[in-house]
Amino acid sequence: MDQIKAKKSGIFDDASETKKFLEEQKAAIKARVKDSPVLLLISGGVDSSVCAALLSECLNAKQLQLLYIDTGLMRLNESQKVIKALSLLKAQNLYHIDAEEDFLAALKGITDPEAKRQIIGDMFVKVQEREVQKLGLPEDYFLAQGTIYPDLAESGKGKGAEQGLVKSHHNVRSPLIEQKRAAGLVLEPLGSLYKNDVRQLGQILGLPEEITRRHPFPGPGLAVRVLGEVTKEKCDILRQADAIFTDELVKRGLYDKIWQAFAVLLPLRSVGVSDGTRSYGWTLALRAINSVDGMSAEVFNFAIKDLREIAALISSRVPEIGRLVYDITDKPPATIEWE
Ligand code: XMP
Repeated sequence: MDQIKAKKSGIFDDASETKKFLEEQKAAIKARVKDSPVLLLISGGVDSSVCAALLSECLNAKQLQLLYIDTGLMRLNESQKVIKALSLLKAQNLYHIDAEEDFLAALKGITDPEAKRQIIGDMFVKVQEREVQKLGLPEDYFLAQGTIYPDLAESGKGKGAEQGLVKSHHNVRSPLIEQKRAAGLVLEPLGSLYKNDVRQLGQILGLPEEITRRHPFPGPGLAVRVLGEVTKEKCDILRQADAIFTDELVKRGLYDKIWQAFAVLLPLRSVGVSDGTRSYGWTLALRAINSVDGMSAEVFNFAIKDLREIAALISSRVPEIGRLVYDITDKPPATIEWE
């Protein structure tokens, strides 16, 4: 933990700095954007939700378009929660695009982790371009994203570019974003912030705690947590298991003590016994880590009692899962996500 504590977790020392940042950003965005339309891509996570709240505060409601592409790779009931939270903002134009079929079809038969990320990134762009066309925005619209500092650093962009590519984050390297970046039309108001800063900013902007305290979730969603080929059936199994894991962490008062926790469905079946007969169920890995910025991480020290009870609950409620394991690898050498 010491190594993690010693690292920078944010740029704000107190609430007055957060407020100052907010006021400066609002003024800077207004000055830069003027009357041009702004399209914000929403992923449903903390970062893009905070970005939506920030932009809603400083742009006029007609000027801002919020585009939420539902990839079908989201967690249980996630889309409904996202839409409900966003509808509380002042923004008038909120588009919810159900693109599950597009994403699952593009991922069919693909098992390589980088290929999956690339395909998801490309599909985001394709769906986004298709939907943007429907909106009829002029050429010079601004594209806004809730990208934060570690996203830019790990994708070999921005101030952390010298670190090179670890994984291609779908939301940083897409051709449309590159093209918009070259034209000076990308808005990334959270680009200098760490996760903790974004949470503080979200609180000041009045977002519900359910959103601001949420664990990070990767843009490619469950596709990087269903190892190997992604199918709807596997996503459904993972969604059920992941929701039980999260609910239990909340009930046990552990959720806020952990930086990120989730389940991973492995492409591995093993023999078990159920009601006296042989079963052959999937293996599920549970991962829970602590971190300050996602760039390094340490495994969360569970009480074995909690782990065993949670594992028993998952295997009894999700019959397709026959075996559970706990991932005890720090980052490095392992990354937080398995793919
Ligand atoms: P890794 O797996 O690289 O993850 O140790 C570090 C943090 O970033 C999240 N993550 C992503 N976030 N787009 C995102 O917005 C992505 O493509 C992506 N990949 C990983 C991961 O969940 C962790 O919090």
